[in-house]
Amino acid sequence: MEINTVNIEKIVQQVLSEMTATATPTLPSSKPTPTTGRVAMLTAKEKFEIQHYPIPTPGDNEILVKIEGCGVCGTDAHEYKKDPFGLIPVVLGHEGSGTIIKMGKNVTQDSAGNPVKLGDKVVTSVMFDDDADIAMMDMNKLNLSDTSSVYGLLPDDDVHFNGWFADYLMIRGGSSFFVVNDLNLELRLLVEPAAVVIHAVEQAKKTNLLRFNSRVLVQGCGPIGLLLIAVLRTMGIHNIVAVDGEDKRLDFARDLGATETVNIKRYNSADAVLAAITTATSGKLADFAFQCTGSPAAHAAVWKFIRRGGGLCELGFFVDNGDAPINPHHDICKKEITVVGSWVYTLRDYATTFDFMKRAKAIGLPLEKLITHKYPLTQIDQALQTNLRMEGIKVAVINE
Ligand SMILES: NC(=O)c1ccc[n+]([C@@H]2O[C@H](COP(=O)([O-])OP(=O)(O)OC[C@H]3O[C@@H](n4cnc5c(N)ncnc54)[C@H](O)[C@@H]3O)[C@@H](O)[C@H]2O)c1
Repeated sequence: MEINTVNIEKIVQQVLSEMTATATPTLPSSKPTPTTGRVAMLTAKEKFEIQHYPIPTPGDNEILVKIEGCGVCGTDAHEYKKDPFGLIPVVLGHEGSGTIIKMGKNVTQDSAGNPVKLGDKVVTSVMFDDDADIAMMDMNKLNLSDTSSVYGLLPDDDVHFNGWFADYLMIRGGSSFFVVNDLNLELRLLVEPAAVVIHAVEQAKKTNLLRFNSRVLVQGCGPIGLLLIAVLRTMGIHNIVAVDGEDKRLDFARDLGATETVNIKRYNSADAVLAAITTATSGKLADFAFQCTGSPAAHAAVWKFIRRGGGLCELGFFVDNGDAPINPHHDICKKEITVVGSWVYTLRDYATTFDFMKRAKAIGLPLEKLITHKYPLTQIDQALQTNLRMEGIKVAVINE
């Protein structure tokens, strides 16, 4: 073989380009790589602007994800309507999923220890400022750390791709993320809210009041309450009373495992609602109740639906919607109710979530049908408005 300087230069160039590719592996694509991507920036209450920014190159600990879609959460709707977290301008969306298209050389495994490669589908969980922070944390209390956050609830910065309502997400070092190749798109978008309810059930179990034969009441049948019913069903709990004011949601509650339903809007007094719930629980009230509404009136009412010695898990108030009146004599002291709160999730809850989804599929629970509406990113305002009107169950933004 003849070696001349031109050939040597070519070989050196090829080796250098391969070395660069190893530093930041990139998914090969037949299409020209775009240089900018869109974000749906919430720039004022009820106002999104589609903005274009240069696509960032991931550093050694970072991952660039091409977003396939993201569910709309009640928290996004609160932020869109009233900005209770004071985040505007912000790119919302934390129930997303996407494909790894570039990643830094230090990224080798996900937060469950599974190997990671270009092309993997991923979802994100809790994030920290850097890897050192996450290493210091008790993995089972990550949700209670003051320094943790989630993508989609981060203030805007120079990166901009900080939320899932966008074309790309930049996953920083210190973030937890999971490979979810074995779930379909709908289930990938439901992982995050499902992790919320898995955590609530783990909290409820701490009371020792959640048993195979417990009469469990789920108050509020939005996506959170409905997923909770499905989790209870996969645990073998078969005495589940669903309470809501919307018949369509209560019908879905039955599809996911509720055995009795109570539509509070059919009754014209609190006493009449209580009578209906007493009947639905065979005259005995609930052994355990999950409060999944975010409504102070619902929180005030739920205590009345629980038997003496029963338990309550409050997970509906991710946002401060105000105080709720309770009667310390009737509601707590006399009844000896055990209460637990539930705040997002830990990393362990994600592993349980993947198991839950497989079990739900095995017993034929139609989780995918929770996603009732899909909008492109350009129609994100309609997506949020649909959520606020409580049309359907789970609204999702799906990228074209
Ligand atoms: N704890 C957490 O970490 C966490 C995480 C995510 C969401 N959340 C909260 O959970 C709540 C539920 O989320 P979602 O997405 O299902 O919301 P959603 O608004 O879609 O559903 C709430 C449901 O409650 C029903 N409801 C309202 N008042 C009621 C009453 N008095 N009695 C019975 N039902 C009543 C509504 O009809 C609706 O179906 C939200 O407030 C959200 O902020 C908490």
